[in-house]
Amino acid sequence: MNQTIQTQHRHRSIRSYTDEAVSDAMLDAIVEAAHCAPTSMNMQEISLVVVRDAERRARIAELAGGQAWVAQAPVFIAIVIDFHKTDLGVRKAGKTQVIHESMEGFGAAAVDAGIMLGTMITAAESLGLGIVPIGGIRRNPQDMIALLQLPPLTFPLVGLSIGHIANDAPQKPRLDIGTFRHNEQYDASGYAAAIDAYDENLMHFWKDVARSEGLTWSETLASRLHTVYFPRVKPVAAMQGLLNDK
Ligand SMILES: Cc1cc2nc3c(=O)[nH]c(=O)nc-3n(C[C@H](O)[C@H](O)[C@H](O)COP(=O)(O)O)c2cc1C
Repeated sequence: MNQTIQTQHRHRSIRSYTDEAVSDAMLDAIVEAAHCAPTSMNMQEISLVVVRDAERRARIAELAGGQAWVAQAPVFIAIVIDFHKTDLGVRKAGKTQVIHESMEGFGAAAVDAGIMLGTMITAAESLGLGIVPIGGIRRNPQDMIALLQLPPLTFPLVGLSIGHIANDAPQKPRLDIGTFRHNEQYDASGYAAAIDAYDENLMHFWKDVARSEGLTWSETLASRLHTVYFPRVKPVAAMQGLLNDK
């Protein structure tokens, strides 16, 4: 193994940060790593909004449903789907862009946003910084759009908090890798047993880290996935001119 892979294997989300600033050199290196990442059809339909202002971070923490670590970490990066940028290129070449209205466009942009997120995570963690991704910015997308002054054809899909670690976190166990890696053909025959084992394993994990409110994986999913937990995504995306195809 090399150092990059060791860093990836040590990943854990951090929700406790010191107030030490992230240096410009570190932040530039993290952002530039994402800028070099692959992007679907070279669309480059992602923009990052780097937020360091404490008041603005506090507001994002609130919009994300009261996530204190967003206010605490000195850097927040919003990863924004940006079909406004591509529209300028398409118009310049004399055509009308429609891809932003489609599931294909939103899906491709979500993939690219995930690549940007993962690339920045690896870069930040390799520098010894802590991170936590923040999907909570989709809880109140319209207010996020106003706060970041995003134009039509854009959408704030996910964020990343970055900072120096105050209290480290233990690694959270995962489902057995057999539920994740399928060789040659998909095979779900081991899922039920793996879920039983993981539910038990996760309860041991919560006990070890003194989180008495911790639930099994199945219970956590049930509490979240029985509803569309961020119901404003679709209507606000439509208001932004996205995902409007029939
Ligand atoms: C796209 C995405 C969005 C996430 N959103 C949040 C969030 O809003 N708040 C939070 O505290 N953690 C968030 N997380 C972190 C997950 O809860 C975390 O990755 C998961 O529980 C596994 O724990 P680990 O990262 O420590 O291994 C998010 C992770 C991802 C990948």
